[in-house]
Amino acid sequence: SLVTGLVVGAGALVLWSTAVVDTADEMEFDTPLSVPPLAESTVDGEGRRVFDLEVREGSHEFTAGRSTPTWGVNGDYLGPTLRASRGEEVLVNVTNDVGEPTTLHWHGMHLPARMDGGPHQMIDPGETWSPTWRIEQPAASLWYHPHLHGSTQEHVYRGVAGMFLLDDERSGQVGLPDEYGVDDFPLVVQDKKFAADGTLDTDEGMVAPSGLLGDTVAVNGTVGGYLDVTTEKVRLRLLNGSGGRFYDFGLADGGTVTMVASDGGLLPAPLEIDRVLLSPGERAEIVVEMAPGEEKVLRSHPTDLGLGAWDSRFTGAEDTFDLVQLRAAESLAPSAEIAAELAPAPDLRAEDASETRRFRLSGNNINGRRMDMDRIDEVVTVGDTEIWEVSNSNGGTPHNFHVHDVQFRVLDLEGTPPPPELSGWKDTLYIRPNTTARIVMRFEDYTDPDYPYMFHCHLLQHEDRGMMGQFVVVEEGGSAGTPPAHDH
Ligand code: C2O
Ligand code: CU
Repeated sequence: SLVTGLVVGAGALVLWSTAVVDTADEMEFDTPLSVPPLAESTVDGEGRRVFDLEVREGSHEFTAGRSTPTWGVNGDYLGPTLRASRGEEVLVNVTNDVGEPTTLHWHGMHLPARMDGGPHQMIDPGETWSPTWRIEQPAASLWYHPHLHGSTQEHVYRGVAGMFLLDDERSGQVGLPDEYGVDDFPLVVQDKKFAADGTLDTDEGMVAPSGLLGDTVAVNGTVGGYLDVTTEKVRLRLLNGSGGRFYDFGLADGGTVTMVASDGGLLPAPLEIDRVLLSPGERAEIVVEMAPGEEKVLRSHPTDLGLGAWDSRFTGAEDTFDLVQLRAAESLAPSAEIAAELAPAPDLRAEDASETRRFRLSGNNINGRRMDMDRIDEVVTVGDTEIWEVSNSNGGTPHNFHVHDVQFRVLDLEGTPPPPELSGWKDTLYIRPNTTARIVMRFEDYTDPDYPYMFHCHLLQHEDRGMMGQFVVVEEGGSAGTPPAHDH
C-alpha cells in the first residue's frame, strides 16, 4: 500500500510518498546465508590476544548480479566476529583504509575511555590505532562499529559492523549451543536502499523521524538467505545493526523460541517468547528448536513502537520482512538441555544509588543541549551506583538510550517493573514516546578526567545530529579535565 500527500513549506509544494514494505511469503530463500568468519588472532609475548582489523572499501552483491560499493572490515561488507574470554587481555590493531577519518567503537564493552573508540579516538586514513584492555565482564554478544561524530549513520550503513563475542566460565556449561558456524550463528541485520545503479541510497526522504530507512533487509549481507540446520537446537545471536529501523523478531508461523541473552549477557533464566523487539544497537540471543526436515522462517513483524498510525508509517513500524529460512536436515545431531538458571541476575539495586540524574530526549538534543566534543556533561565518581532517569519527550519520535562503559539494569518503565526480556544486563533501551525509564548502573575500575565516555540515542541519525552527551569517570572528589584536542 502507498500513502501520498502534499506538504506545503517555504512557498514550495512537495509531493512525498511512503510505501509499507511487506516481503512476507514472497521471499524465495535461494541463497545460502553468509556467516561472518571468526577473526583470527595470535597471542603476543605479553599474553595478549591480538586481532588485526582493516576498515576498507569493497563491493558486495546484495542481490545476484548487481554489485554495490560498500565498506567492510577485513572484507567487502561487515566484519569478522571477534571472540575472547573473560580474564583475557586483548589488543586490536585497527587500520583505516577508507580514505577519510573513522573510529571503531566496542559497543557494550567495559574498558578505559581512551580504548573505547568513541568520537575522540579518530583514526586518520592510513593510520593504525591499537587499543588494549582486559575483558572483565560476563559472557555476551557485543559488537563494534564506527563512532565518528556526525558520520556514524553513514559509516555503519556502508557496512562497518561486526560482533564481538565474550565467553566466561559459566557460558559454556549451561547447555547452550556454542559451536560457531555449526549450531551458533550471529545474525547482523541491516536495512538497505538501492539507487538504480546499485549504489547505496543515503537519501533520508522528507519525513524521517527515525532516520535513514531501507526497504531491503540483509542478514550478514544476504537477502533471502537459508541456513542448513544440522542440530536439534540452533542459537541465533541477533544484532540490530541498522541506523533507524526497529525489528520485532519472531517466527513466521507464530511459534515460540527461547530467549537466553540480552545486550550484556545471559538472562537469569531461559524465556519462552514469540517476539523480541530490538531497537538500533540492541541484541538478543534466541534458541530455536527444530524437528527433522522442518523449515522455519525468521520474520520481522510490524512493531508497536508506541507511535500514532501516522508516525508509524515513517518509521517503518508497519513493515514485515522475512529474514532467514532455517532448514533442518532429515537427521539432526542431539543438542543439550538448556539449564534452568543461566546467570545471576544483575546485582544492582535502587537503594544503593548515590545519585539520580535525569536525561530528557527531545528534538536532537539531551536536556536541551546538543553534543559538543569539548564539553563534559556529567562527572561520575568511580565505584558509585547511580540511577539514570531517561525520558522521551518527543510525541511522534522513537528514541533509545545507550550508555558506554557499563551494562545497566532496567528498574522500571513508567513506574512499572520491566518485562522479563529486559530483566538482564542491558546497554541500550528503547524509550517509547512520552515515557520515562529508570536504569541503574555501577561505574567501576577505570577513571580518566580527560577522556569522556558517551551516552546517546542509538538511532544513528539522531546521534549524528547531536542527541549525545559525554561523561567522565573520576576518583572520589575529582573533577572533569579537558577533552583531548581534535582537529577534524
Ligand atoms: Cu553503539 Cu555509542 O554506540
Ligand atoms: Cu533518537
